[in-house]
Amino acid sequence: MGIITTILGGKKQDSIHWNEVIHMENVEKMNVLIIGGGGREHAIADALSKSSKISKIYCAPGNAGIAEYAELVALKDTDMNGLLSFAIEKQIDLTVVGGETSLALGIVDVFKENGLRIFGPTQKATQIESSKKFAKDLMIKYDIPTAAYEVFTDFNEALNHVKEKPLPAVLKYDGLAAGKGVVIAETIEDAEHALKDMLVNDKFGEGKVVIEDFLEGPEFSFMCFVSGADVYPMVLAQDHKRAFDGDKGPNTGGMGAYGPLPFITKDDEKFALENIMKPTALAMLEEGCPFSGVLYGGLMKTKNGIKVIEFNARFGDPETEIVLPRLKSDIFDIFCGIADGKTIEIEWDNFPILGIVMASKGYPGDYETGYEINGLDNSETTIYHMGTTEKDGKLLTSGGRVLMVVGKGKNLNEARTNALKAVKKIECKNLFYRTDIGVKAC
Ligand code: AMP
Ligand code: GLY
Repeated sequence: MGIITTILGGKKQDSIHWNEVIHMENVEKMNVLIIGGGGREHAIADALSKSSKISKIYCAPGNAGIAEYAELVALKDTDMNGLLSFAIEKQIDLTVVGGETSLALGIVDVFKENGLRIFGPTQKATQIESSKKFAKDLMIKYDIPTAAYEVFTDFNEALNHVKEKPLPAVLKYDGLAAGKGVVIAETIEDAEHALKDMLVNDKFGEGKVVIEDFLEGPEFSFMCFVSGADVYPMVLAQDHKRAFDGDKGPNTGGMGAYGPLPFITKDDEKFALENIMKPTALAMLEEGCPFSGVLYGGLMKTKNGIKVIEFNARFGDPETEIVLPRLKSDIFDIFCGIADGKTIEIEWDNFPILGIVMASKGYPGDYETGYEINGLDNSETTIYHMGTTEKDGKLLTSGGRVLMVVGKGKNLNEARTNALKAVKKIECKNLFYRTDIGVKAC
């Protein structure tokens, strides 16, 4: 933290006449640490870089795109002690946690115990994402609309349950699985295979499986800043979870997103806020784990009304990359206000915006990294880096999802055309993308 005195006009002190002083103020400039290294953190860094209140941004571990705004710190998001020591040493005024891994490990609790300001929910509150069972039990107890479900630890019991119910079967591993712990099985054989992975082979770790009713309808992501009982909605987004065009292929972390959403009315939005997001914040208070941070509602508009598919305890990725560019307010004030439990004010733009994820071939399964990427510089779009690294002056792929190419336009169609145009200019031998992001809304 440093005190900076700003004198605009570039004149020497003794030659300034009173009416020539354009602006003179003492501004306390802040140091910020972002934890994470994906497209979401790139979008957070981009938004923070617009705040006049920040002197320095650090990001651990960051990526090649984030390096434009932040000093990268070679610490993993699981290195609690390293991150804590770094924050103390660098006198970090605000830490923003991007992903669920550090949240589920209790980074917020650790930082708070050490008197540091941090944006995100506690380990206990993160259970709304880290345990499907916790989230489901909460929703049933507080009458928050969601699909009916049962929980299993025994493989045979789970399989018998699937056999008794109509297909497809919705199988959810009860823990963090990077968006890959949900299987929609069309056949009993597929269900058997998935249940074996989850309950016998412990593919994601030892755990339980939630089996729930299959729901149908368009999905949307409703993220809100939440501080205890106070809920501040963000603009809506729609993600595309399946790997390939036409919603085919395996579930991924998300292959592209856009907004605004023509299929969600103002009444739908009001219903979701009043009957889902606000009651959930109150339920968390009631359960002794008040929520602070971003509560992400993965919602579905079914013919029987809007229902919760899942909750996350953090910003969505890639939704954040098309939501934060529409934020008009200073995000630093929002993060601090929420972390300090103060009332905040937020203003949004709602212009059409659409982003396409470029992922490594093979994702969400096995994939190779280290492929050179070119053609990013001549773009009128914003390109958020999701999994990139720089080596010897070259930009290389370093993750499953690699880039999120975001276009804007007068309407969604134009935003889509702009994003696709930029995607086609990107040269890399090992990337694939969906060509139909947002097409149903254009
Ligand atoms: P989740 O990680 O719980 O969001 O699930 C990943 C994806 O699986 C969701 O975005 C949906 O597309 C699908 N899904 C999850 N639960 C259901 C359900 N009960 N009915 C239909 N599709 C579902
Ligand atoms: N895009 C979905 C998620 O962040 O979980």
